[in-house]
Amino acid sequence: MTQPRILVTGATGKVGGAVVTQLHAAGVPVRALVRGEADFPEGVQAVRGDLGDPASLETALEGVDSVFLVWPFLSAEGASDVIDAIGKHARRLVYLSSAGVGSEEEKPGEAITMFHTELEQLIEGSGLEWTALRPTGFASNTLGWAKEVRTTGAVRAPLARLARPLIHEADIAAVAVQALTTDALLGACPLITGLELITQERQVALISEAIGRPVRFEEVTLDEAIEQMKAAGYPAELVEAVLPAQAEMLDNPEPVNDEVERITGTPARSFREWAVDHAADFR
Ligand SMILES: NC(=O)c1ccc[n+]([C@@H]2O[C@H](COP(=O)([O-])OP(=O)(O)OC[C@H]3O[C@@H](n4cnc5c(N)ncnc54)[C@H](OP(=O)(O)O)[C@@H]3O)[C@@H](O)[C@H]2O)c1
Repeated sequence: MTQPRILVTGATGKVGGAVVTQLHAAGVPVRALVRGEADFPEGVQAVRGDLGDPASLETALEGVDSVFLVWPFLSAEGASDVIDAIGKHARRLVYLSSAGVGSEEEKPGEAITMFHTELEQLIEGSGLEWTALRPTGFASNTLGWAKEVRTTGAVRAPLARLARPLIHEADIAAVAVQALTTDALLGACPLITGLELITQERQVALISEAIGRPVRFEEVTLDEAIEQMKAAGYPAELVEAVLPAQAEMLDNPEPVNDEVERITGTPARSFREWAVDHAADFR
């Protein structure tokens, strides 16, 4: 019997890239949705398509059984057409959502949580088999510090004492692989977290340890950080949603659970492991 083919969107990104790698390593036929040139292991089929143009997805969706969907936009506009296009071909959709959805801390009006909530509702009503993964903040967000670590040996950021259970993209991918290749997570929205709460100051110390060079944490105010991120080209709606939400987490930290281990059989990777895996980006 031939194995079902899985289409991975966001395949050149952090989580989608890890999903492609892990499915391929497990011998599952995998197709990667791309917008431009991209390097994948031999045997991974790259097919062009743009999530902003549902008609462009037809070729990529042909003969596909399941889809891993990473939504790259900051609103749900156009999502309904993309989900309809997927539903014409595939049986199952696994969506990369966010821990903000359904959490007690969910803030009405918070842009990122809002679009993930809307996509989850569309997917749930689509008639497809579905799973929505709700990860906490990604360890890979700290790659935003990589350039200043390389060039100045310092990280200028707000909220030194903010502790978060940042999650390794490989752990999100491992849960996604379970959702795509078994029936264990059908109709589930698992909240998946990193191993433990680690302060931002400690994250920088662990990056320093991983690269074998000193790295200072220079705390800046929230307002300075907002201006700094906008000047670096981050969209205003992203910066204004993310940083104030992080400030609130100081007194109200995100939960930590062992869902990664329960679902995959292996404990979540630590931030120290993540820093070692990504040391080259900071050197
Ligand atoms: N960062 C966090 O802490 C966090 C936490 C929870 C949930 N999330 C969610 O995770 C998702 C981002 O995942 P990620 O960090 O793995 O992504 P990422 O590394 O930023 O990569 C984005 C991917 O989307 C692709 N893409 C961009 N625009 C596209 C388009 N128009 N059509 C098709 N593909 C397109 C990119 O491909 P190209 O190479 O063509 O650009 C790339 O493969 C977002 O939905 C975010 O809200 C993030």
